[in-house]
Amino acid sequence: MKTPITVSVTGAAGQIGYALLFRIASGAMFGPEQPVNLRLIEIEPALPALEGVVMELDDCAFPLLQDVVTTADLDEGFKEANWVLLVGSVPRKDGMERNDLLGINGKIFTGQGEAIGRSAAEDVRVLVVGNPCNTNCLIAMHHASGVPKERFFAMTMLDENRAKSQLAVKAGVHSSAVTNMCIWGNHSSTQYPDFYSAKINGVSAAEVIGDEAWLKETFIPAVQQRGSAIIKARGASSAASAANGVVDTVKRLTTPTPAGDWFSVAVCSPGAYGIDEGLIASMPIRTDDGETWSVVEGVQVNAFSRAKIDASVAELNAEKDAVSALL
Ligand code: NAI
Repeated sequence: MKTPITVSVTGAAGQIGYALLFRIASGAMFGPEQPVNLRLIEIEPALPALEGVVMELDDCAFPLLQDVVTTADLDEGFKEANWVLLVGSVPRKDGMERNDLLGINGKIFTGQGEAIGRSAAEDVRVLVVGNPCNTNCLIAMHHASGVPKERFFAMTMLDENRAKSQLAVKAGVHSSAVTNMCIWGNHSSTQYPDFYSAKINGVSAAEVIGDEAWLKETFIPAVQQRGSAIIKARGASSAASAANGVVDTVKRLTTPTPAGDWFSVAVCSPGAYGIDEGLIASMPIRTDDGETWSVVEGVQVNAFSRAKIDASVAELNAEKDAVSALL
């Protein structure tokens, strides 16, 4: 049998956790021949609910699932983890300012970063989902002593999938016909889904759709505000599609990217495309070996795109300033 991959998940008893764990255990993330161990982390009050989720995992009798650990202890939770999925975070409540949220979560991600540095496997890769995910990722990265910064990611795949789906509906094609979709910047309402560089069946999406007003005034806000639209319709925030975004992100980082294509994930900026070095910002990424990644060079950034990217990067810089005491 192959050596199992150990995956740690925080917030495992939450909504996304409930949709995510079963897909990891079934083989959707690492393929049908790769066994997995799950290390599930929750705050103490949620541990009883987490036991219920584990009972359900047991009841699936997944052939690939080996060991399952539940804990509120970070070092136990991240022990020998090859992948750490930081999903848990404190949600914004009525009357809470964005900076309060940054501060509260900042402390959580400081401790989690430190524990990852102490306890995870040498090859650990970390994907932050809990919001504000870019800045939470920045904080965790800063405190994870000994873990290279290239191993930290924040999720914008759900936004990419939303953007592909919107373009596909408008163009009357299947979503798989849409490639080269890049979400730039922050996972927030300032994100920029770049329809100029996206392609539909290999041709510029802007050309195929031929309606720049729709792209600028309807498509961009629809992607940026899709999360709110889901909450309004469902009475709860996106969970299954967010979990699917996690599965897709890990898959895309661990399998070679098709020639000519790229995908969206926020990484520690190497200074590409004028995005300040060291910010966790989403940009076009590809991997040739499923282990290392690079920023795709030469993506056209026109004046419209430049302004949108700059606005989102300015927001990331403001978030960074708000948590500067933790960095
Ligand atoms: P949820 O509230 O259902 O679950 C969060 C879980 O995290 C709870 O069970 C809670 O007990 C746990 N938790 C809180 N603090 C923790 C800590 N310090 N350590 C371990 N666990 C902790 O929330 P849901 O719907 O599962 O969403 C999780 C996060 O993902 C939220 O921050 C949400 O905004 C974010 N999100 C991010 C997306 C993205 O595209 N990056 C998309 C959708 C959601």
